Amino acid sequence: MAVCTEKTVWSFMFLLTGAVGQNVIYPLTSTCAVRGSTVTLPCTFTPRKSFSDGQREVPLKIVRVRWCKNHEICQGGTPSVFDSNSTNRDPRYQYLGDMKTNCTLQIRDVQQGDSATFRFRMEADNSKGHFTNMTGVTVRVDDGLKMRIISSSDDKKLSRGETVTLLCASVCTFHQLEVTWFKDGHALSDNGPSLHLSPLTAENSGNYTCALKNINETLSEPYSLQVEAEERQPADGNLPLIVGVVSGVLLAVIAFILFIFIIRRKLAAAEHQRAEGGETEPKDPDNIYSSIQEESHRQETSRAAEDVSYASVQFKHSHERSRHVEEVDNAVVYSSLASRG
Ligand SMILES: *[C@@H]1O[C@H](CO)[C@@H](O)[C@H](O)[C@H]1NC(C)=O
Ligand SMILES: *[C@@H]1O[C@H](CO)[C@@H](O)[C@H](O)[C@H]1NC(C)=O
Ligand SMILES: *[C@@H]1O[C@H](CO)[C@@H](O)[C@H](O)[C@H]1NC(C)=O
Ligand SMILES: *[C@@H]1O[C@H](CO)[C@@H](O)[C@H](O)[C@H]1NC(C)=O
Ligand SMILES: *[C@@H]1O[C@H](CO)[C@@H](O)[C@H](O)[C@H]1NC(C)=O
Repeated sequence: MAVCTEKTVWSFMFLLTGAVGQNVIYPLTSTCAVRGSTVTLPCTFTPRKSFSDGQREVPLKIVRVRWCKNHEICQGGTPSVFDSNSTNRDPRYQYLGDMKTNCTLQIRDVQQGDSATFRFRMEADNSKGHFTNMTGVTVRVDDGLKMRIISSSDDKKLSRGETVTLLCASVCTFHQLEVTWFKDGHALSDNGPSLHLSPLTAENSGNYTCALKNINETLSEPYSLQVEAEERQPADGNLPLIVGVVSGVLLAVIAFILFIFIIRRKLAAAEHQRAEGGETEPKDPDNIYSSIQEESHRQETSRAAEDVSYASVQFKHSHERSRHVEEVDNAVVYSSLASRG
């Protein structure tokens, strides 16, 4: 049987603690980006705290961090895209990390030459604390990929007044790049990745495409949107509204009948007085009218009628507003929908 010497056990332990003591984690080991965009390579690291020189534990401190392109170790005089020791830096490579735990790198205005594997290296005040994780982050630069339109609604046929958001998407990062939207081949003024259409009208029907600005190859397949002329009437959703309108109309009819009835009574009374030969002067028409109004108003102050008219005024107001305001506040859209549904 092999005999394990104290020394081999000790060095095995050392290897274990060394591996456990320090690491670099790339949460994303491969990514793809469109030329000109900004891509972020997330990264975290744990430095080794100390090492043993045989007699005592010597504390370690990170004094240098760097990122290299396509180099396995990134040590010594290897050219780097970022080096905390160098003042001559390419502003396209921004180190968003620190000297303790965060080693995130951001690449702006991505170029074809950034199709590479990027690796992070930390260097301590003693070479025992130097470490590179050779896995790295592989970046692929692509700008010939077609964009894709994703709709917030599964339905391609939508009704007037509904809301839909179209998203111009790509498998690659295109952060910081503008999007151009087209409707039936004509460019729209929107240049963000999402196109919010609300409330829909028949004019929104058409074939939509999107592309990254000035990169024709990215033009998406058309997305055909059809807005039906009919406003969708949810079967039971509008029932309370219908009941409200009907009872409102009924109340108005009753009020009108009462109105006529009262006028006739007042006129008859005046006629009667005159016929009796009373010398009281005839009431002037304004007075008659205002007293009639008062009375009919009293009849009309039914709670139901007030609620209905208030609700319909509120509804019209928010509807009109969301129709006219170009940049519709989401909350308003939601409330107008909510009052409708
Ligand atoms: C190297 O990076 C990979 C990817 O993030 C990770 O799975 C692995 O644990 C890392 N290794 C070390 C020793 O840090
Ligand atoms: C990098 O800078 C640190 C101090 O910031 C220094 O201790 C170290 O020697 C430098 N390393 C090199 C290789 O210049
Ligand atoms: C690292 O720093 C970047 C930029 O400040 C930040 O976005 C990211 O959340 C940080 N990562 C961690 C793990 O703290
Ligand atoms: C949209 O495209 C379809 C074919 O994909 C075509 O039949 C239709 O006429 C187009 N609509 C408009 C408004 O151009
Ligand atoms: C890109 O498309 C625009 C408008 O559709 C056109 O004027 C231009 O010539 C195209 N460029 C290329 C390189 O195809």
